[in-house]
Amino acid sequence: MKKNYYITTPIYYPNAQPHLGTLYSTLLADISARWQRLMGRQTFFLTGTDEHGQKIQEKAEAAGMPPKAFVDSIVPAYKDLWKLYGIAYDRFIRTTDADHEHGVEQWIKLLLEKGDIYKASYEGWYCVPCETFVNVGSEPLKNTDGHFICPNCKRGLKQLAEESYFFRLSAYQDRLLAFYETNPDFITPKERLQEVISFVKAGLKDLSLSRKTVSWGIPFPGDPSHTVYVWADALNNYLTGVGYGSAEAKAIALLKDCWPADAHVMAKDIVRFHAVYWPAFLMAIDLPTPKKLVVHGYILAGDAKMSKSLGNALDPAKLASWYGTEQIRYYLARQMAITHDGTFDLKDLEDRLTADLANSLGNLLNRITTLAANNDYTAVAAPASLEPASEALKLRTAEGYRCVAEEMDKYYFHTALAEVWKLIAAINAYVHEQQPWKLAKSNRALFEEVIACACNALYVVGLLLWPVMPNKMEELLACLGVNIAWGSDYDALLRANSWNHTFTLTKTEKVLFMRPESHLHELAAPQAAEPPKAAPAQENSNEISIDDVAKVQLVVGTITECTSVPNSDKLLCLKVDAGEYGQRQILSGVAKDLKPEELVGRQGVFIANLKPRKMAGMLSEGMMLYAYDKDGKNKLATVDGAANGQRVK
Ligand code: MSP
Repeated sequence: MKKNYYITTPIYYPNAQPHLGTLYSTLLADISARWQRLMGRQTFFLTGTDEHGQKIQEKAEAAGMPPKAFVDSIVPAYKDLWKLYGIAYDRFIRTTDADHEHGVEQWIKLLLEKGDIYKASYEGWYCVPCETFVNVGSEPLKNTDGHFICPNCKRGLKQLAEESYFFRLSAYQDRLLAFYETNPDFITPKERLQEVISFVKAGLKDLSLSRKTVSWGIPFPGDPSHTVYVWADALNNYLTGVGYGSAEAKAIALLKDCWPADAHVMAKDIVRFHAVYWPAFLMAIDLPTPKKLVVHGYILAGDAKMSKSLGNALDPAKLASWYGTEQIRYYLARQMAITHDGTFDLKDLEDRLTADLANSLGNLLNRITTLAANNDYTAVAAPASLEPASEALKLRTAEGYRCVAEEMDKYYFHTALAEVWKLIAAINAYVHEQQPWKLAKSNRALFEEVIACACNALYVVGLLLWPVMPNKMEELLACLGVNIAWGSDYDALLRANSWNHTFTLTKTEKVLFMRPESHLHELAAPQAAEPPKAAPAQENSNEISIDDVAKVQLVVGTITECTSVPNSDKLLCLKVDAGEYGQRQILSGVAKDLKPEELVGRQGVFIANLKPRKMAGMLSEGMMLYAYDKDGKNKLATVDGAANGQRVK
């Protein structure tokens, strides 16, 4: 019998800094792991980074760095942010870790032995940002220029024709369908399983498992001229992260205690990999499939997915400094329903922090501890008997726990939190009706009962909210004079709802939750609704109209080759990889200022729709942009980490 509740996050591509979206997935896994710990279970929580593949290779090239040095420069940002946000993982796996690479090799060797792998040629399309082979036959999508684009990220596809090792995915179609049928709860929310079933029923093609033209990856066992396809490498982290592939006794025991995983958390963009490929990969080596996929929607900014590349991502470190990390944890878990996309709105955040945290919960705690201190009742005894209103609150608390536990077990944290706040409202109403500040003088016994009942109910609230706001709830519990005793069976304790606890109250010196200061004015984004102010009318012969601007297509491209041009001391000949805009030859008059080696591997911006023309007898298919100083010396105008073929506006 396995001992651990084992939960994972996606492993993130370290090609850019973490943002609120990646924090959200990681937070959901952290809350689940903490909830299970509170319920008395042993847990193992895995997160990490997905470091191989073409996308990282290209980003590293664009940054002029070796890929390992490139990922090494980004991974600390993930670890730092998780630390800041109190993400209590057990292991941070990197796919460049030696034990992971070894585990992936073992897995491939097993597939080879079983005959589940064969060599053929892949001819088709590939999305580098998603690292996905795209079947344009079944999902034809073209952009306005008539180029194929990825159905997921809508960016340009690359055409591939290369030798590849294939996994016999098609052979698993029936087993997969049978698996979904016997595991209707495999995906939360349930509805997503239907999409997967339709996809599989439409017919599975064998899956390319290696890349011959990508060098940044795990060498394919038996044929080092290939590297392992990055998704096959990445998915296996869930196994290697808990010991798969190792012969060490400790690793073997860990794997036994963890596998099969209880939950893989992710957003809807990567369900197919986890619901189709991953179970098939496991079936192929006779290992059990994971119990559940917890799939959430996107965090939106306005109508768009919040993402670094769209430039609409809020910086989680800044948010933490403005409002506090646990406040952001609360807002993310409360506001975003895992069943839907959700908007992260600063005004709404400030309103919630004020209403829910400062007013409803913070004030309640403050009121009780102050009343108790002012009336010399800080050593709170278990109530001997209960008046009907107190008995009703006790029943309400038990009911609250039942509802919260049910929602937490479904991974519906937003509704679980709504249930906690219903309970807090009931405690506030009880205190309001009982008026203990009057009872202190008129009916001491009832005063003590009301304080004791409020403390018992607050104790439950503190425990239930601990997975979401661990530090704040430890502070709250400390005000009641209790600590969480790890290893206790809190499920049994909360179910019993005995209310026979004693409390030692401390008056809160500093309030648990301050009303947040508003930071709305610090948002840099211009208000779209505000009409632009009219510029004073004046003659400016340099001015161009917006229509003129729209005519110029500025596009990002990486300079892959650069050579001098015969018979010209001014010109350099650049070969530019411009994604969906193809491979371009561009001549630039910068030979006096720049050496070819200063340009190769760098990413710049060029005018893509300039009419091709001949210079020094050679064709130039665009104009690369340079910044030049007052002496006319040129420097490449660069962009940071964009994808080739992206438009610049
Ligand atoms: N490396 C793969 C995952 C491999 S797992 C074996 C990958 N990485 S990623 O860096 O692109 O991360 C994708 C995940 O980040 C999403 O599935 C989701 O968990 C999270 N999110 C990224 N942007 C997000 C939002 N705007 N909103 C919510 N989640 C977001 O795919």
